[in-house]
Parts: sequence; structure tokens; C-alpha cells
Amino acid sequence: MRAVDVIIKKRDRGELTSQEIDFFVKGFTNGDIPDYQGAAFAMAVMLNGMTSFETADLTLSMARSGQVLDLSKIVDLAVDKHSSGGVGDKTSISVMPMVAACGLPVGKMSGRGLGFSGGTLDKLESIPGYRVNLTTEEFKTQLKEKGIVLTGQSLDLAPADGKMYALRDVTGTVPSLPLIASSIMCKKIAAGAQAIVLDVKTGVGAFMETLDEARKLADLMVDIGRLAGRKTVALLSDMNQPLGSTVGNALEMVEAIETLRGGGHPDFREHCLHVAAHVLVVGQRAKDLEEGRALAEKCIANGSALETLRVLVKAQGGDVSYVDDLSKFERAKYVEVVNAPRSGYISQVNARGVGEASVALGAGRAKKSDSVDHAVGFIIHKKVGDSVQAGEPLFEVHANDEGKLAEARQAVLAAHAFSDEFVSPLPLFYE
Ligand code: URA
Repeated sequence: MRAVDVIIKKRDRGELTSQEIDFFVKGFTNGDIPDYQGAAFAMAVMLNGMTSFETADLTLSMARSGQVLDLSKIVDLAVDKHSSGGVGDKTSISVMPMVAACGLPVGKMSGRGLGFSGGTLDKLESIPGYRVNLTTEEFKTQLKEKGIVLTGQSLDLAPADGKMYALRDVTGTVPSLPLIASSIMCKKIAAGAQAIVLDVKTGVGAFMETLDEARKLADLMVDIGRLAGRKTVALLSDMNQPLGSTVGNALEMVEAIETLRGGGHPDFREHCLHVAAHVLVVGQRAKDLEEGRALAEKCIANGSALETLRVLVKAQGGDVSYVDDLSKFERAKYVEVVNAPRSGYISQVNARGVGEASVALGAGRAKKSDSVDHAVGFIIHKKVGDSVQAGEPLFEVHANDEGKLAEARQAVLAAHAFSDEFVSPLPLFYE
């Protein structure tokens, strides 16, 4: 079999066999198939799609590109949660400590920024020393001893996704239903959690812009999860405007930690409590959402969720003093408050526009080898439905370069729209 023939078959809209998919994934993982063929394959899939059988095969091959953990030997029941990607989405950093603090073990493999969407690993790395490359042995030991792990793909856990994800980020091959579904679900399957909550985003700042597409992605991932014997549920949540009030790695860490302290933006807190409640229900710690939510609220109020974050950061080598002293997070050289140009109601804060502007500031990558600037990003002061007076602070730009700051100011101003009429706030969840 030759890699080029697999690419040609997909280019010509053929349906790949399990053997062809497995051959490609294995060769790509071990380096026999170079990045340029991996990129061509991703583009062929992006343009021509895959059947649900092909997507399930791709997911399982990618999961098996490394070890597939069986966590049932380590803890009774481990849970996992994953977002399909969005702007300002630091949910895992707040929700996972909440859930683990309620006594439910959490073993999670996260991703880096992808296109205009931020990534949990880049955010966590704004804490100096925090390691996102745990080995499988470290993953298992930490889960058993600490009850919480938040790491990235390693050489032995879903390595095919690690390589493919980095390529997709810089080759325009992110918004593809089969590539997203397989990328998310191979990590979930390899990491071994028995119960999974998927937070599927929809809106202009999501890879699946319409509710219909998001529902398709959710259904596909739930089917793959069940096929792999995992209890899987999916929520459809809004991503038309950034989640919470911050966009950018260190700024989002600060908001996630403030939320664990009982503060944070009300939208983000509410989003986290709802996701945490679902995780607690699928993880059988709560009988229903009401009880799950009450448990999550209690873990914030009694400080145990924050303490669990400290435990996590320390276990993964991070400087734990950052959790208690938020002023330690790297701050950008220039911080500019941009005021509202007019009075009215906010009718749009285009999440895609804000996400792209944050990548341009340096918070994301343009090339695979780029490093991210943890300090840059935005604080959004007004959300859709808020009323604003001309001259009131609308958002802040945090930048390390004056030229980029000016461009970001323009871009984020253009992402805002105003109305003279009352505008209803956006829902947090659709289904
Ligand atoms: N999250 C992932 O892990 N993969 C994707 O492709 C998109 C979001």
C-alpha cells in the first residue's frame, strides 16, 4: 500500500477501508509518512468528508496509535470532558478541579490552540513549570494518587492526534466534522475514562457554526463513544461571543482561577456549573443535575475546588504560588482600555473576530513551530444584551507590540455591533 494512493482515493471521493486508514495512521505516526502527505490527507478529508464508518475507523486507529489506558484498574470510575473548541473557553481549567473536588477522579488529555480557538494546554503553560507531556505511567500514578490529571498527547497516548492536530492548525484543515470528531474521541478513548461529557460549541466562534452541524458532530461523537463502550453525553453550547470575559492564555487562567474562588464572570461561572453538574451525573456522583450543581457550588464555597487546582498544578510541576497570587501571571507590556464609540445595547461580540485578533496578537500559532505569547489577549467588558454608554470601557487589549495593539483594537472594535433597541442576552446552552 502507498500513502499517495490513499490520498488519491480520498481526493477522488472514495470510501477508505479500515486497512487503508490504519496503514495511513500508523505510517504517519511513526514518521514513514511525512507531514506533507499527512497535510494532503487532512485536506482531502476536509474537502470530501468521511462516512461514519470511516470516521469511527479513523478514531480507533488514532486511539490505538499509542496505548489505550484501562483506568478501571486504577479507579472505580474516571470521567473526562472535552470542548469542541472556542474563544475564551477555559472551562476545563475550572470544571475539572470542581469535579475532582467532589470525589470523582478526572483523567483528561487536552489540546493546544487550534486556528482561532484557544487550547487548554497553552493556557495551563502560562504557569511556569506546568508539564503537559506526562508519560502514561505518570498519568496513571497521578490519577490514582491525586484524582486529577490535565495533560496533553504524549508519545504513548494518541500520538497520531498530537501530530495531526499540529498540522491541521496551520494547513486550514480544522473545521472538518470527521477530523474534529476523530481528534476529540481518540484522545478520550486513549485516556481511558469510562464516562465522557462533550461540550460541543456552535456559533460564529465555533468550528461548527450552525446548530445543525454542531448537532451532527455531537451525535457522531456520542455514537463513537458508545461504540467504544464509554458512557457519553454531549451538550450544545453557545459560541457566538467569547465565553466569560477573557481571551488569551494567562488572562484566561486568571479568570478560571477567580471562578474557582467564587468570582469570575457570571456567564462563565454558570456555564461551568452546568457542565460540572453533567459530569457529576454521568460519573454517578449525583443523581440529577440539581444535585450535581449543588455539589459543584459547595466545592467552590468551601475552597476544595481551588485546593484541587493547587494539587494538580503541584503534581504537574507548576509553580503553585500562581494559584494564590494572580499578579504573578505574565502581563503584557501595553494594556489599552478601548471605550464604546456610542451608546446602545450590545448586539454582537463576534467570537471569531476576537479569536482571530488574539492569534494575530501572538496568543495562537501561524506556523507549527511558533511559540505562543502567554500574556497577550483581551478582556471583554460588555456582552451581548448589555447596555453601554458612549465612552464607557468596552474592552481591553493586552499586547506586547504597539503595531499589533493598533490592529487588534480595530479588529475587536469591528467585532462589536450596537443596537438602539433592547437586545436579549445569548443563551449559554441550546440542548
Ligand atoms: N478539539 C480537539 O481536540 N480536536 C479538534 O479537532 C477540535 C477541538
